Amino acid sequence: MQQAIVNVSQDRWSSRRSRALRFIRKQGVGGLFETVKSAGVVGTAAFVLRHARYSICIFLGKRWDRAHGVDTGGQIEVENLEVVGPNASMGYPAVSTSPSTFAYLSRFFPQNRSEYEFVDLGCAKGRTLLLAGRMGFRHMTGVEFAGSLCTIARENIARYSGAGDVRGRISVVHADATQYELPQENLVLYFGNPFGLELWPTMLANIAESLRKKPRRIRIVLTGSLDGAIRETGRVITGSGPFVRVAAGTAPFFLDTYRPFHYEIFDASVG
Ligand SMILES: C[S@@+](CC[C@H](N)C(=O)[O-])C[C@H]1O[C@@H](n2cnc3c(N)ncnc32)[C@H](O)[C@@H]1O
Repeated sequence: MQQAIVNVSQDRWSSRRSRALRFIRKQGVGGLFETVKSAGVVGTAAFVLRHARYSICIFLGKRWDRAHGVDTGGQIEVENLEVVGPNASMGYPAVSTSPSTFAYLSRFFPQNRSEYEFVDLGCAKGRTLLLAGRMGFRHMTGVEFAGSLCTIARENIARYSGAGDVRGRISVVHADATQYELPQENLVLYFGNPFGLELWPTMLANIAESLRKKPRRIRIVLTGSLDGAIRETGRVITGSGPFVRVAAGTAPFFLDTYRPFHYEIFDASVG
């Protein structure tokens, strides 16, 4: 049923094998040897290693999904999705944070989580909402600008069979994150590298304005596999308004992720 919402061929991870077979069919074994020759030993070894890493990550992601009755894996380019608002070209593809990486990052979540709402800006298929549901947050909200991903996220919440009583505690909002009005609660704002640098000034101005209207505690968790982009975004956050960096670093290279995730953690407060 979910394959009707997002076609398998639009998912770069599900279509990895068919793309490889298509290459061999088209180029033949000779073409394969030519490619290996031009890439050299080091290039070929790096390719094989990268492929093995992706295969393990995809396998473990699917295993997690099966164990919890959901579909949160894959990589779907934004250009294949219909989105609300004018910011499609700035959006990064939908790829879920791995369960191990999320568990690692939870050390930066506040201790008194029942006093906080967890909000994932660009929640894709909603995996982090399900994971946060086990961690004692009062409520979890996912904001996603692609309607088909919102539908999948809602289906996942309805079907989720894992720990944590998530039904009734998670909302999925179909909106552009930069237009979304933040809940007036203490917040953990989770950004799994949703969009490019261009949108951050608007996003940060919204957070600052929301904080000014209702002073409260807001922690920002910014993370992703593109460490250069995360560091650059981190610099923009540090240089603007009420944001103070409290930690930065790189999570370990867990088997269920394709690359280690860099993270930058901020607190926002007025006055
Ligand atoms: C890299 S994925 C992160 C998924 C999820 N946060 C996680 O870490 O598991 C980025 C997601 O942000 C969404 N996105 C990109 N730009 C957005 C925007 N302006 N508003 C809302 N969602 C956006 C994309 O559609 C995609 O699903």
